Amino acid sequence: MKLTLARAKELLAATTGDPHLVVHATNVRGCMEAFARHFGQPPEEVEHWGAVGYLHDYDYERFPEEHLEHTEAELLAEGVDAADVRAILSHGWGICNDVTTETDLERSLFCADELSGLVWAAALMRPTGISDLEPKSVVKKFKDKKFAAGCNRDVIRKGAELVGLDLPAAIAVCIDGMKPYAAETGLLPKASLP
Ligand SMILES: [Fe+2]
Repeated sequence: MKLTLARAKELLAATTGDPHLVVHATNVRGCMEAFARHFGQPPEEVEHWGAVGYLHDYDYERFPEEHLEHTEAELLAEGVDAADVRAILSHGWGICNDVTTETDLERSLFCADELSGLVWAAALMRPTGISDLEPKSVVKKFKDKKFAAGCNRDVIRKGAELVGLDLPAAIAVCIDGMKPYAAETGLLPKASLP
């Protein structure tokens, strides 16, 4: 059976407690939902792409130095579809393995993983959060090598290329996907916080 969001949440909760990783999972989920819409997927696939995004760093908290080496056997044993497991492995292409991206879902996950981090960091600094964040301000941050230096610019460039978008267009998809989850990811306008 294709991965559902409920199952993805259950599986991630069993292995991951770091709130930053949960925020990252939520960001990637949102981006994947927006990429699914961008690629014309029906509503059930939008949820499915989001679920794969949510679960993609399944083994990271336990095995940061062996990321994605403890994913395949465990998730298959948990009954996750082989295609979904493969998709998760492919976000490590050229970084921790040689599983190439073959489908729109896989290419989108590769793009969302690194780019969502830059978008999140850019939105986090703003008093208005992600509510009125524009792609061009994220592009500016992209060019500032000191900003969110952990977000690898080459990986971001490769991700946008994989999904066939220029950088501002890929950023626009991510902003659109992440907005609905602003309350969970700390990106609400500051004035609306208690
Ligand atoms: Fe990730």
